[in-house]
Amino acid sequence: MKTKINNNQTPTTFIILGVTGDLTQRKLVPALFNLYKEKMLPSKFRLVGFSRREWGDEEFREFLHSTIKKHILKTKSTDIESFLKHSKFQKGYFDDKNYYKQLDQTLKKIDIEVGVCTNKLFHLAVPPKMYEMIFKHLANSGLSRPCGGKLGWTRVLVEKPFGNDLKTAQALDNLLGKLYKEEQIFRIDHYLAKETLQNILAFRFSNVLFEKIWNKDYIEKIEIKLFEKKGIETRGDFYEATGALRDVGQNHVLQMLALACMDDPRELSAKAIRKARADILKDLEIINSKELKSRAERAQYKGYKNEKAVPKSSKTETYFKIHAHIKNKRWKHVPIILEAGKKMKKDLTEIKVHFKEKPTCVCELGDEQELQNVLTFHIQPMAGIEIRFWANKLGFGFQVEPRELSFDYPKTAIQDHLNDAYERVIFDCIRGDQTLFTSTEEVEASWRFITPILDNWHNTKLTTY
Ligand code: BG6
Repeated sequence: MKTKINNNQTPTTFIILGVTGDLTQRKLVPALFNLYKEKMLPSKFRLVGFSRREWGDEEFREFLHSTIKKHILKTKSTDIESFLKHSKFQKGYFDDKNYYKQLDQTLKKIDIEVGVCTNKLFHLAVPPKMYEMIFKHLANSGLSRPCGGKLGWTRVLVEKPFGNDLKTAQALDNLLGKLYKEEQIFRIDHYLAKETLQNILAFRFSNVLFEKIWNKDYIEKIEIKLFEKKGIETRGDFYEATGALRDVGQNHVLQMLALACMDDPRELSAKAIRKARADILKDLEIINSKELKSRAERAQYKGYKNEKAVPKSSKTETYFKIHAHIKNKRWKHVPIILEAGKKMKKDLTEIKVHFKEKPTCVCELGDEQELQNVLTFHIQPMAGIEIRFWANKLGFGFQVEPRELSFDYPKTAIQDHLNDAYERVIFDCIRGDQTLFTSTEEVEASWRFITPILDNWHNTKLTTY
């Protein structure tokens, strides 16, 4: 059961910039609708779509209706109808200040209709190259200013990738810092909002069992994988300019590393948890150009060059593997292997912690047997935790065999929750909890690690698979 939003009933207007895009259709509209249905949005909630389409409210509502029908299988028409009543459309071009003025007028009308100055939440569901322009227009047109007093906060939700490398991320952050306070900025990494990732923290810091041996003395290596069966689908343009390392490495994979390796934040506060994540990312050892060959691999799936909007000469990677190290006392010399790819044999996202071999045993060891324990966090599609340990083999003698202790979330429940990451993102943004959003320090630290790799990426051989 989800927690109900009874602590946040302040009237809120959710403005999606780029409302006809792929992200809005696949994730945002379904998430908003589900939250609405589950009464987890403030009752005085409004949705405003901003896009260059020649639409009025009616056409926008038809679009929302078909999007909901397409992405949520079981829905009651009455629920959809009542959700649609909360929506409004505002035509606009992102580069034209006049349309921001019109948006401002539309929002003012909504406030009059609702009877108070509503909170304003701007979600930038647009290509990252447009961020800067939109931020400036929002600020110049006064749209980023709260209504005043205690009423009506203003927040921005920003999608990844945040910047293209360290320099551009810093520049974007500088700009944002001038226009908004840090507590107004919500940088999304939807992996942080996945229940199975939150479970890593719950497991590590609520049990005494493992934390004492969670270090270089007992752990041989950690493997982090994000494998997807699907290819790049219709996102050729975006992917060609991005590549696997920027698309999921700089963010999702490094966030998995942060949760698996960070120190105990000791309290459930956004400040403490974000700091612990940032601290471990700051400790990542930079891989220089000489080491890159032996520590990184990149590859492209067969058929990638035939995808729509991908040039035949493309050298963009759809797969990478990196041997990372963390240069602090706890993790010195422990290999942390980061691996991700599209068009892999199966969907598999997991973190495997390999413990060191037990040097002695009270058993007769077989030739190939190595007494190692392995702990696996299954992120998706399986969702749970599994520990491989050694147990006595039935029968005369002193032989051991590997066994598993495991815990799985029920399949149906977790499917629901895995689909939920965006619901959680929106829910937490409305209630102002930044725990599951990346801080400026985390973004900077992850780019500091990734950028030197990208700088030398073209010298790293690109194989096919
Ligand atoms: C996105 C990437 O951030 O994450 C996609 O841009 C990737 O390329 C997706 O497919 C994976 O997310 P999920 O939640 O489907 O595992």
